[in-house]
Amino acid sequence: MLANTKKLLLKAQKGKYAVAHFNINNMEIAQAAVRAGEKCKAPIILATTGGAVKYAGMDYLYAIAQVAANKSNIPIALHLDHGKDPELVKKAIRKGYSSVMIDASMYDLKKNIRVTKQIVQMAHRRGISVEAELGTISGTEDLISAKRIILTNPEDAKDFVSATGCDFLAVAIGTSHGAFKFKSKSKLRIDVLRDIGKKVKTPLVLHGASAVPKKWVSLAKKFGAQLGGAKGVHTDQLKKAIKAGITKVNTDTDLRIAFDAGVREFLKKKPKDYDPRHILGGARRNMCIVAEERIKLFGSRGKA
Ligand code: G3H
Ligand code: 13P
Ligand code: ZN
Repeated sequence: MLANTKKLLLKAQKGKYAVAHFNINNMEIAQAAVRAGEKCKAPIILATTGGAVKYAGMDYLYAIAQVAANKSNIPIALHLDHGKDPELVKKAIRKGYSSVMIDASMYDLKKNIRVTKQIVQMAHRRGISVEAELGTISGTEDLISAKRIILTNPEDAKDFVSATGCDFLAVAIGTSHGAFKFKSKSKLRIDVLRDIGKKVKTPLVLHGASAVPKKWVSLAKKFGAQLGGAKGVHTDQLKKAIKAGITKVNTDTDLRIAFDAGVREFLKKKPKDYDPRHILGGARRNMCIVAEERIKLFGSRGKA
């Protein structure tokens, strides 16, 4: 059975650690995350965006997560990430996701509250928890795009949570999606996060939190990737953010880079091998290493 995201995050809040949220788009990514969770005896959240659903189909991704949760001895939740289209969010609720994110952060506060509240009411009727976003996390991925970071206003956060009844809040404190997060030093607004934490008691979520590790970037570059200038969130900053109240950390980019490095390395070294299992096998192992490192960093090892 899929785990209850809210329970996982409330336990993390009490225990002062963060649960790892891993974005999945296919079976290999999910398996890498699940294996890492099992190795570390940690709870994990598998997450699908609108882009993932478009690529693989909600039924397939749901089935993968369900099989993982049924076979595994760790808690595994399934979350809809960045639900921008209320119809997609409603579909995930009806499907039986553990939790959904309604991302109406592109609207003004009033409209964000209105759209979020409607989803919260529907989700809560079915026992499903809701993540909402206030402020803007920049960066561009497949279907998610925002041009600049607008930090979450702590006072607005308080009003937003009480008006919407959302269960978790994604905050904007200087992170952004993708592999190019900072032009110079990685710096998060931990002061803003602390102020939000004083006003909001619901679990807080950090998006755009990938570390973009040099090790994987260099490997991918060695085999042809063009990732010059890639920079992620420094692990010390992330530890500070967790200490200041972050209870779910989203990771996608680090998995993508490890995957990319694995595929590129294999294709370069074995040009005569065209077996997809061989091409993807190394990429899956790389992603598992990344996921394990993330779980350890978040402090959720042994919390299953
Ligand atoms: O926050 C979102 C993820 O990093 C990926 O988004 O599936 O739309 O590319 P995407
Ligand atoms: P990264 O791009 O930093 O991995 O962030 C992913 C994310 O926030 C998914 O919601
Ligand atoms: Zn995100």
